[in-house]
Amino acid sequence: MPLRKDFLWGGATAANQCEGGYNEGGRGLANVDVVPIGEDRFPIITGKMKMFDFDDEHFYPAKEAIDMYHRYKEDIALFAEMGFNVYRLSIAWSRIFPKGDEAEPNEEGLKFYEELFKECQKYGIEPLVTITHFDVPMHLIKEYGSWRSREMINFYENLCRTLFTRYKGLVRYWLTFNEINVLLHAPFMGAGLYFEEGENEEQVKYQAAHHELVASALATKIAHEVDPENQVGCMLAAGKNYPHSPKPEDVLAAQKADHDNYFFIDVQSRGEYPAYKLKELERKGIAIQMEDGDLDLLKEHTVDFISFSYYSSRVAAAEPEDADESAGNLFSAIKNPYLEESEWGWQIDPLGLRTTMNDLYDRYQKPLFIVENGLGTVDTPDENGYVEDDYRIEYLAKHIQAMKDAVELDGVDLMGYTTWGCIDLVSASTGEMKKRYGFIYVDRDNYGNGTLNRSKKKSFYWYKKVIETNGEDLSND
Ligand code: BG6
Repeated sequence: MPLRKDFLWGGATAANQCEGGYNEGGRGLANVDVVPIGEDRFPIITGKMKMFDFDDEHFYPAKEAIDMYHRYKEDIALFAEMGFNVYRLSIAWSRIFPKGDEAEPNEEGLKFYEELFKECQKYGIEPLVTITHFDVPMHLIKEYGSWRSREMINFYENLCRTLFTRYKGLVRYWLTFNEINVLLHAPFMGAGLYFEEGENEEQVKYQAAHHELVASALATKIAHEVDPENQVGCMLAAGKNYPHSPKPEDVLAAQKADHDNYFFIDVQSRGEYPAYKLKELERKGIAIQMEDGDLDLLKEHTVDFISFSYYSSRVAAAEPEDADESAGNLFSAIKNPYLEESEWGWQIDPLGLRTTMNDLYDRYQKPLFIVENGLGTVDTPDENGYVEDDYRIEYLAKHIQAMKDAVELDGVDLMGYTTWGCIDLVSASTGEMKKRYGFIYVDRDNYGNGTLNRSKKKSFYWYKKVIETNGEDLSND
């Protein structure tokens, strides 16, 4: 049997993409609430267009999302029926600290997650908790400029200490920042950064990255102090960069593109700023302000495991303007002629998962955890809400096979696998509902119409069997 006996099988969601209840239970407003569906979404999530509140012209899907805030018991029961022994979810920061800079937390928010964790416990499901999945309380953005400000480290520390203390014994697995490298690509949605005209964006982004990295190390330190049972992971939007051709310049470009992603994990896992990044920042005239003790903190409090999302490999070229474009997960992407694409133009590369896992394991020599993987498609349900999603089964089966090969044939140490959007939820990049990843269909469209009823797709039964056999039986029959 290639996978560990205690392998963690499950699915993943993020608060803002599924909870809704944006103004209930004392919750404050966050950046992730005010990103609408439609053509303005991209300029907003990249920090080029200002949207700090709702207006009447846009539809904001996160306000209600799939209403998991009220329906989590039903949803967790369905996860349990599939056999999940782990469920990855995120905390909405502004439920716990509605403004972000209060000294005392909001009890109603704390209670909500406590109940949710107890519900998981009832079924023997381990929560894997992302402390922040892109969200920042809006007040911290308006008052402090979000992660560009050093003060964010204190607010985040307060959040973490509160969570670790309150949920001791209920939660053991924590991730500090979802897809930390997305800060460079979608700075408003990923880190609450909005840029003023003429600002040196790179300077702001790397300063913010430093603050997140210090905050992450501090969180790791506190997690271990509060409960030595706690295990803390970093989280990377992964996907190996292939060179566009064997031309040495393209190979160097691919290495450089990988470095841009690994930089974050190098700091979180190896505990040091890598030389290649220090040199690059120096060349670009970017000076990161650090305080005494920052580097020691980074060195002493590295993560226990490496988690990552994987949807596709990537291609890098020395002269990207000469290459064909493709769509990617918040990253600009080059087309790989050897790969098929999803309906949203994301390239499909199961073998790339094995390559990516090998890269990460070679580099860090720590256990890996795949915390997102899946196919976003249009699903057409029958009158009972049943979807015959063989395409999803095929996608997942091939990726799980590649993951097993990385373990069995290459010796990679893997803790678990959670598919993205195990229940249909709002898409992060587009804000659409119709881009679905789930085993569970949710009756809701892009503009909030529908009953919100849940129903099982064909893949629901398939994944149940996969989990039952610890990944041995991937057949679709
Ligand atoms: C990852 C994010 O980038 O990919 C998720 O962590 C996101 O929040 C997922 O939903 C899939 O992307 P999308 O744009 O299809 O929702």
